[in-house]
Amino acid sequence: MASVGIFVGSSSGATQEAAELLEEQFDEVELINMEEDYDDLDQFDEFDVLLIGSSTWGQGDPQRDWVDPLYEMENDTPDFSGKKVAFFGAGDQDTHGEEFVSALVKFKELFAKLGADTEYGYWPTEGYDYKFSAAEKDGKFVGLPIDKVNQEDLTEERVEAWAAQIKQEMGL
Ligand SMILES: Cc1cc2nc3c(=O)[nH]c(=O)nc-3n(C[C@H](O)[C@H](O)[C@H](O)COP(=O)(O)O)c2cc1C
Repeated sequence: MASVGIFVGSSSGATQEAAELLEEQFDEVELINMEEDYDDLDQFDEFDVLLIGSSTWGQGDPQRDWVDPLYEMENDTPDFSGKKVAFFGAGDQDTHGEEFVSALVKFKELFAKLGADTEYGYWPTEGYDYKFSAAEKDGKFVGLPIDKVNQEDLTEERVEAWAAQIKQEMGL
């Protein structure tokens, strides 16, 4: 089975909890918290599959532990070709429904620019109630949105269904 690296940035634990549920769904898997476990860009190279987790802050911005790694990626332009990458993260569709999980699209665009295959894990917008999301493309989210604030009871089933979906899409 392909090796899976879950890289997660989470300020109050919502995306971290989703990452831990996700971790349970894979056999050969490692969970890297961007604040505690991340050292440098070489860590991404250890895995065939990257599951990238970040909550959204500010006005659609990535979680703070991702700021430096994203800057390094933009400047060092590592080659991510051959890697299969999918995205997930927490947001708040009620209080921050004008930019619901918008950060996910920033990750997708950057990883795609670096050669990764990012056409995995698109997720239906049904079941969410928000005003706008930059992460919505052609009627689907470009990754899995989690909403611990308003829909905590749906997180586990969403993560399990999403894991099954990406396993199938990635041929894992
Ligand atoms: C100041 C502030 C700004 C936020 N901005 C957004 C936003 O633009 N979009 C969104 O979906 N959620 C936004 N949120 C909600 C957080 O993403 C949400 O609380 C999430 O559960 C945090 O996840 P984490 O614990 O994994 O970091 C914001 C929250 C705060 C306090």
